[in-house]
Amino acid sequence: MSKTCNWGIIGPGRIAHKFAQDLTGLKNARLHAVASRSLERAQAFAGEYGASHVFGSYEEILECPDLDIVYIATPHTGHCAYTIKCLEAGIPVLCEKPFAMNLAEAEKMIETARRRRVFLMEAIWTRFMPKIRQAADWISEGAIGEVISVKADFGFPAPMNPEGRLFNPDLGGGALLDIGIYPAFLNLLFLGYPSKITAVAHFSDTGVDDEVAATLEYPAGQMGHIHATIRNRTKTEAFIHGTKGVIHFHPHWFRPGNLSLIPEGDRPQDVYFETAGNGYQFEAEECMHCLDAGKPESDLLPLSFSLDLMRLLDAIRKEIGLVYPADGKE
Ligand SMILES: NC(=O)c1ccc[n+]([C@@H]2O[C@H](COP(=O)([O-])OP(=O)(O)OC[C@H]3O[C@@H](n4cnc5c(N)ncnc54)[C@H](OP(=O)(O)O)[C@@H]3O)[C@@H](O)[C@H]2O)c1
Repeated sequence: MSKTCNWGIIGPGRIAHKFAQDLTGLKNARLHAVASRSLERAQAFAGEYGASHVFGSYEEILECPDLDIVYIATPHTGHCAYTIKCLEAGIPVLCEKPFAMNLAEAEKMIETARRRRVFLMEAIWTRFMPKIRQAADWISEGAIGEVISVKADFGFPAPMNPEGRLFNPDLGGGALLDIGIYPAFLNLLFLGYPSKITAVAHFSDTGVDDEVAATLEYPAGQMGHIHATIRNRTKTEAFIHGTKGVIHFHPHWFRPGNLSLIPEGDRPQDVYFETAGNGYQFEAEECMHCLDAGKPESDLLPLSFSLDLMRLLDAIRKEIGLVYPADGKE
């Protein structure tokens, strides 16, 4: 970006800290404003990163002067409403994943962005990492032949807290929306939208999926495999299998790190991407590039992709019978 980009944050929680840390590593970005439900929390967060504007409610940031873009980092259930408020106020938005609670909410967000002609992007940070571009390059060069299947997992043991956002249905809890979205994203990116979706899940006492597995089938015979759990640790790696080889995303595959090309009958090639910071700077840079270029959405993660991802998550939820209180609000 040619000028310094003034970022605002709504919902200064765990991920907002990591994002704000990465903004400090970008020379043309700064944290300008923080909005929390508590003025004290906003002040504490702003103090850590040098933000000059603090707000004790999410409404007040809409009036903040010189704000270029807002990063929405509340639990999932807040994404739609706060995104729409920002967009209606003419403020560009980077919204955490999952984009929304369901397809209907995502459609409303996108309709608002297009009607108001304001930039909107989902914060699927993995999309912007150099390793994804490397994998796409290998595939387009034919290094693994035709893609046959994509397989990815994501699992960690989350301590049970019925009120916390991971297990609370009122906050969109469950493995699928929190972490299953990453394997879903990888399948969608490299195989497109499937023609058939089957899924099974195990449910926690709070009624959300604490483990989910989904199989995607494609008209040309390709298959996608999604596994996510908040019951136990899994290796959290990903593979793209082709007719002539394999691309292996090493653990934790969704973060910056190692990638291997394993050609059939040839020596593996390992690539390591050095990354300063946590890895959220790539999505921030993409937003700033789009704002600078006057683009209403990202070419790398267009809104049509976020719609398809939400459609896929909805379809998996239908298969496993997972309904949220937020679904009834449509
Ligand atoms: N991209 C990634 O790598 C990544 C990683 C983790 C999470 N995420 C996403 O980021 C979002 C936030 O996750 P997180 O782990 O940062 O959550 P968190 O630590 O619980 O923080 C969320 C913040 O949202 C605000 N908030 C607004 N309404 C709330 C409510 N009803 N209950 C609790 N907090 C509420 C709170 O800040 P105030 O009360 O101060 O306003 C809270 O600190 C989720 O949608 C998640 O999927 C993304």
